[in-house]
Amino acid sequence: MKLPDYVTIIEVGPRDGLQNETQFVPTEKKLAFIRQLWTAGFKEMEVTSFVSPKWVPQMMDSKEVMKQAGNKKGTIVLAPNKKGIDDALSSGAKSIAVFLGVSTSFNKKNINKSTSEAMERLVPEINSLKAKGIFVRACISTAFYCPYEGKIDPQSTLDLCRQFAEAGADELSVADTIGEASPSEAFELFSLLKQQLPSTLLTAHFHDTKKMALANIYASLLAGIDRFDSSTGGLGGCPFAPGASGNVATEDVVYMLHRMGIQTGVNPDLLIEAISMIKPYVSRPFLSGYYINSKIK
Ligand code: HMG
Ligand code: MG
Repeated sequence: MKLPDYVTIIEVGPRDGLQNETQFVPTEKKLAFIRQLWTAGFKEMEVTSFVSPKWVPQMMDSKEVMKQAGNKKGTIVLAPNKKGIDDALSSGAKSIAVFLGVSTSFNKKNINKSTSEAMERLVPEINSLKAKGIFVRACISTAFYCPYEGKIDPQSTLDLCRQFAEAGADELSVADTIGEASPSEAFELFSLLKQQLPSTLLTAHFHDTKKMALANIYASLLAGIDRFDSSTGGLGGCPFAPGASGNVATEDVVYMLHRMGIQTGVNPDLLIEAISMIKPYVSRPFLSGYYINSKIK
């Protein structure tokens, strides 16, 4: 398989990266972080999520974040249900990411619904978003492993992805929520998805618990994937997925791709500045190779 010349990186730091931080990050610091990330060259970014502030207090300022930083093309917000979608629309969102795990045990913890209950409610919402001309991204959690149920049968993931595609989702962001997938599993699933859903935009979302995320990205590239979610500084993790670590660090993904001659449009030095801006407000250490090397220089 010929590798692509250009890969799109969807920066998820302000959403996935920060949602797992227990200390509230002041809204103006989030906004400065988001602005610096746009300056670094990203074309798509998850900036916040319209979820219950009782469940994820860090995202309680989603309306304010959207008011101040939501008018840029490529801005994505997450929403789990009708209330979140309605709030996102009133805040001017043009691209909404709904999310659902393959496994019911995870969904019960994350959104208080089974997979089928949630899907039944999401399908009419997706139809209505498409009728309004909104871009719909569907984030598929526990696509490989579930923190409660263990290994997920790839067929169950394919079935859920197909349901979202048939409901009209423009993009599927298929996630290794707890960072357990191996490169062979990533290659297998993304090859099947490419074959079976050829007209749906496919994105891979790797968490890096077992340090296999970069290898998984390489395996996914070989399977024909050219869109990856990642989080600056390797921040992130779902508060309802115990044991999961952060997302693959954007700076490492950018470094690896550039070394392979694949363009991303992202300036690594401006990205490092974004880390410096958010670092004082987060608890997680920054351990990415590129960050450490660039500090040594
Ligand atoms: P619930 O308690 O079952 O909600 O929570 P409910 O429908 O029973 O309503 C209870 C109250 O919540 C009501 O308010 C609703 O209005 C309010 P009250 O009448 O008591 O005053 N409510 C909301 N408020 C704000 N925003 C909303 C909303 N919906 C209802 N959208 C709910 C269900 C889905 C709301 C909750 O479970 C929730 O917010 N979960 C979000 C969890 C989350 O954000 N997880 C992280 C994102 S997913 C992720 O990180 C994975 C990903 O990165 C991919 C991967 O790595 O796997 C994408
Ligand atoms: Mg995630």
